[in-house]
Amino acid sequence: MSRYTLQPGMIVPQTPFYYCDIDLLQRTLQTATTEAARYGYQIHYAMKANAEPHILYEIQQAGLGADCVSGYEVECAIENGFHPSKIVFAGVGKSDREIEYAIRQGIFAFNCESLQELEVINELAGRLGKQVNVALRINPDVRPHTHHYISTGQSESKFGISYAEIDAALAELHAMKNIRIFGLHFHIGSQIRELESFAELAGKVNEIAAWFTSKGVELRHLNMGGGLGIDYNDPDGEPIPDFAGYFRTFHENLRLTPGQTVHFELGRSIVAQCGELITRVLYTKTTAGGAHFVITDAGMTELIRPALYSARHKIENLTAAAERRPIGLCSIAGPICESSDIFARDIEFPESHRGDILSIRSTGAYGSIMASHYNMRPTAPSRFSDGTIWGQSNLAEL
Ligand code: LLP
Repeated sequence: MSRYTLQPGMIVPQTPFYYCDIDLLQRTLQTATTEAARYGYQIHYAMKANAEPHILYEIQQAGLGADCVSGYEVECAIENGFHPSKIVFAGVGKSDREIEYAIRQGIFAFNCESLQELEVINELAGRLGKQVNVALRINPDVRPHTHHYISTGQSESKFGISYAEIDAALAELHAMKNIRIFGLHFHIGSQIRELESFAELAGKVNEIAAWFTSKGVELRHLNMGGGLGIDYNDPDGEPIPDFAGYFRTFHENLRLTPGQTVHFELGRSIVAQCGELITRVLYTKTTAGGAHFVITDAGMTELIRPALYSARHKIENLTAAAERRPIGLCSIAGPICESSDIFARDIEFPESHRGDILSIRSTGAYGSIMASHYNMRPTAPSRFSDGTIWGQSNLAEL
């Protein structure tokens, strides 16, 4: 059941809002850090999943670093207490201003995605009189079992450098005096539930790392990216993802050289299950064809995943008591003027009424952070289980 519980007589605040269970977040962080520590692995939290200050505070307190994909994320990480020495900066299109900013802040490393980018970083670092650490993001050509929009490590994807390309440029790289290539970075995709994909990645990393070593490049760090998936169908069955199995898979399959450290950039698996989107039923209707619709006050502006990736999130009616009969197949739709603004199509759902409160589960990752103002809607606030509220000032006074 939803972690947001309705008590008799309780007045539910203005909807929609995001709800976050801080206790579950802390337990998730505890499990992730304990399992990583078994092998001396380090985690940089992928801020793109959720950058709400309260969440960042908990993550930073748990000792994780930050994985950023824009200068704005780097700035946000620093503002929220992450030490620059624990920040990595990735992304296929870093602007000169973003690069300069990150160099000035003295971040731990850049994950570089092209030879041109290496040249730009080398030049900008030279101008600032600094030497910067760089990990090369190598495209390992691994095809994970996930949605094609969120798989990133195949040869045809826009991400990363192929090592054939590096071979040709190696002499040039050695001449770039303001950058120090100290590691490799990989990320094959997101929402990966089959651990064999990670075993396959580790196998490819072994080959690629051996190739670099044979060319005289000393690799102090190997960064395996993120991608561990969560159970969207049964968030209560597996509230904390299988970090033990995930890290064990790398431990069993990666071949390390002495002193080499392994880094991860987990996003979804850290924050997804802690979050829910709480929404109210505005209307119910049945079409001439007999299809039932429940129209909610949250839409694709608060959670775009179903519209963008056909993602399925579990939805519960928190008001409907057990005795409410099932309505039969029903679709849950938002208020936005787009036919794709549908959270779920033809699901079994209890009979619902105007005013009922629903929870859309597992929205802690890629929920609020991907929100938009389409139809001029304000940002929905976030409410935390410890009573903290964030972003309420965004609410329009209507
Ligand atoms: N590192 C890199 C280089 C990435 O591109 C990503 C995610 C991560 C780490 C974190 O991956 P995670 O552990 O969260 O799977 N908006 C999509 C997901 C996009 C993921 C983009 N990259 C969704 O809602 O499913």
